[in-house]
Amino acid sequence: MNQEVRRAAKILRAGGLVAFPTETVYGLGADASSAAAVARLYAVKGRPADHPVIVHLADAAPAFTWAREVPASARALAARYWPGPLTMILKRSDRAKDFVTGGQDSVALRVPSHPVALLLLRAFGGAVAAPSANLHGHVSPTTASHVREDFSRQIDLILEGGSSEIGIESTIVDLSDEKPVLLRPGRISRQELERELQTRVADRTSSSPRHSGGLERHYAPKTPALLLPPHQLDAEIAKRSDKVAVLAFSRPDERVEYWIRMPREPRAYAQRLYAALRELDGADCGAILIESPPETAEWDAIRDRLSRAAG
Ligand code: TXA
Ligand code: MG
Repeated sequence: MNQEVRRAAKILRAGGLVAFPTETVYGLGADASSAAAVARLYAVKGRPADHPVIVHLADAAPAFTWAREVPASARALAARYWPGPLTMILKRSDRAKDFVTGGQDSVALRVPSHPVALLLLRAFGGAVAAPSANLHGHVSPTTASHVREDFSRQIDLILEGGSSEIGIESTIVDLSDEKPVLLRPGRISRQELERELQTRVADRTSSSPRHSGGLERHYAPKTPALLLPPHQLDAEIAKRSDKVAVLAFSRPDERVEYWIRMPREPRAYAQRLYAALRELDGADCGAILIESPPETAEWDAIRDRLSRAAG
């Protein structure tokens, strides 16, 4: 692995693209200080140039040099959650150029905890701009083979790191203004952030900074997906004449050929979610019917991803 990581760091230094595992999902990395490398990253991903990207570093201290103001709240969250599945939005320093911030005055920073990600970041020594390693709008990858499904020859190297332990993207909290705002729910919940910061963490509003995760039908399979409350799932299956795939908590129904039974525990559910969506997407069905999870806070991040998948 060390030799692979050294090769990957060399590719990044030369302006190349390296996919790497993180504890949330796989990222597609480029040198965050190189306009040409980031331009290539956007082109390969098919991502609009005005969408900002997360900058990954190996430690909090170098990460904070990308911000011109580091509030006490950011230091507290870094001490508690980095390395880990948390991204912070801060006012950018002049290191963070328009090509990583999408021209905004803020920058997204994260120190991931996956050992291979940390090895890579240390070997490279700089900051790595990395969106999830999927084609724009598609389901995020949680294994190296998912990355290969979306990109065959366009990227220079894929580092192997097993299945991502968390399975959904990092929590994003905006600390660039006085009041913290939750831009994307994740494994670290709003309640945990509020407890740590001893203050309310507001929801994103329409005036919150643009972020592509906020677009409708992001994280989406190609097959139309429908989110249904448990009591409507059966009726929908009975009603449909086309072949459907189902993602549900309950036991498989013999009328349905493709059925993935999901765990009733949110962490285990999140870990399997994207692989399941990709599998059902490949089943060539008319629709993916998804049984909606409980309305409780511990399912927030999953409900967020499912409602986007269902458009
Ligand atoms: O778990 C993750 O966060 C993964 C791994 C690879 O670290 N990365 C990831 O990146 O999910 P991406 O690009 O798929 O999603 C990052 C989100 C986007 O919705 C982007 O718009 C938002 O972060 N973002 C980045 N910079 C921002 C900024 N300055 N202000 C507001 N949102 C920002
Ligand atoms: Mg993404």
